[in-house]
Amino acid sequence: QRTQVAIIGAGPSGLLLGQLLHKAGIANIVIEQRSGDYVLGRIRAGVLEQVCVDLLDEAGVGARMHREGLVHHGIELAFAGQRHRIDLSGPTGGKAVMVYGQTEVTRDLMDERTANGAPIVYEAEHVEVHDFDGSNPRVTYLKDGVRHEVLCDFIAGCDGFHGVCRASVPAGAIRNFERVYPFGWLGILADVAPAADELIYSNHERGFALCSMRSKTRVRHYVQCSLQDKIEDWSDARFWDELKSRLDPEAAATIPTGPSIEKSIAPLRSFVAEPMRFGRMFLAGDAAHIVPPTGAKGLNLAAADVRYLSRAFIEFYADKTAAGIDDYSRKALRRIWKAERFSWTMTSLLHKFPAGAGDTGDVGFKLQMAELDYLVNSPAAMASLAENYVGLPFEE
Ligand code: FAD
Ligand code: DHB
Repeated sequence: QRTQVAIIGAGPSGLLLGQLLHKAGIANIVIEQRSGDYVLGRIRAGVLEQVCVDLLDEAGVGARMHREGLVHHGIELAFAGQRHRIDLSGPTGGKAVMVYGQTEVTRDLMDERTANGAPIVYEAEHVEVHDFDGSNPRVTYLKDGVRHEVLCDFIAGCDGFHGVCRASVPAGAIRNFERVYPFGWLGILADVAPAADELIYSNHERGFALCSMRSKTRVRHYVQCSLQDKIEDWSDARFWDELKSRLDPEAAATIPTGPSIEKSIAPLRSFVAEPMRFGRMFLAGDAAHIVPPTGAKGLNLAAADVRYLSRAFIEFYADKTAAGIDDYSRKALRRIWKAERFSWTMTSLLHKFPAGAGDTGDVGFKLQMAELDYLVNSPAAMASLAENYVGLPFEE
């Protein structure tokens, strides 16, 4: 089998890249190790930046998002018993974010792929990438016990943090930057009304909490938890009690509660691999970088990589120039490190850091309160938060 671009992974990065290339007439195959249902069952991100919305529109899969998604023009910060609104649109020339779940983005992309008949393989086993340092890269995999080989011009590693692409790069050719945070997020999904009209990010002495949503009737809420905690330790009752204890009194008194329909714990990590190109293989999305979720940047960064990479491939085939692919890693990393910076800042500002090194413990908490007090009273600081939260502009 021969194609132009072999895409490893059917998460949002791989599916979006596949769709943009398909629209541009570039042949591609998506190879995923899990089933479609498994991929759709993973509850992850919920906030899309304008650039991500624009890219989904460009890919022709934005219709349901515009019908069902919720446009948010602000977020709320809760601390010291009170909530403060951060206006996202005023300081950014009218930009906003779209609340629409990653599962829905993925479903829209999968449906479109099925409709247009572009090839996608689910439940591919033993996926391996070969010869990307030369001019004839290949991908091999097993499907139903049969070995397949795909010859291609390029490999796109869209296979997430634990994928095979980054792991196939020789150690001397890649540099990894990593920080693991000493806590996790426990998240639940429930079919009740949101706590407020907008998202609430709360810093409390007991730890961070976030009230988010997927629609007017479905919420996604999180509390900071210990890395030792197990899902079984957290009954729904315990979760709701803990969440309420970390909110301002008004939200705590009025927040709707109900049985969870999903519950999971995620660790928090900052990670960047440099570079993102290895000969004829390119990494995009979580395969190349992880941000702690506090800034809502993970999925958006993946979309930003795909924007740069799809344009680079399109230029390569249409205009016969390698300028875009040659510059991909530099351009993408420049944006990634700014999102890493913002996500780390938000994480540092809002979480309880166990006493130890750096600005942690009681001193750390006092400094966070001062920073938050400064933030909500400084138009310049609020504008800076807003500008980063809605998404920084692209380098063309
Ligand atoms: P992924 O979504 O990870 O997709 C990669 C795909 O590749 C997967 O389908 C995987 O099965 C497949 N794959 C892996 N290995 C192979 C292989 N060897 N061969 C073939 N296929 C393979 N972001 C936020 O903004 N907000 C959040 O609340 C949030 N919560 C998250 C919670 C968790 C538990 C995780 C893991 C991430 C979360 N993120 C969040 C981040 C966000 O979901 C990711 O940034 C986004 O999914 C990245 O998309 P991707 O397509 O690059 O990677
Ligand atoms: C969600 C996740 C985030 O990390 C965030 O910052 C905002 C919202 C969510 O899952 O809805």
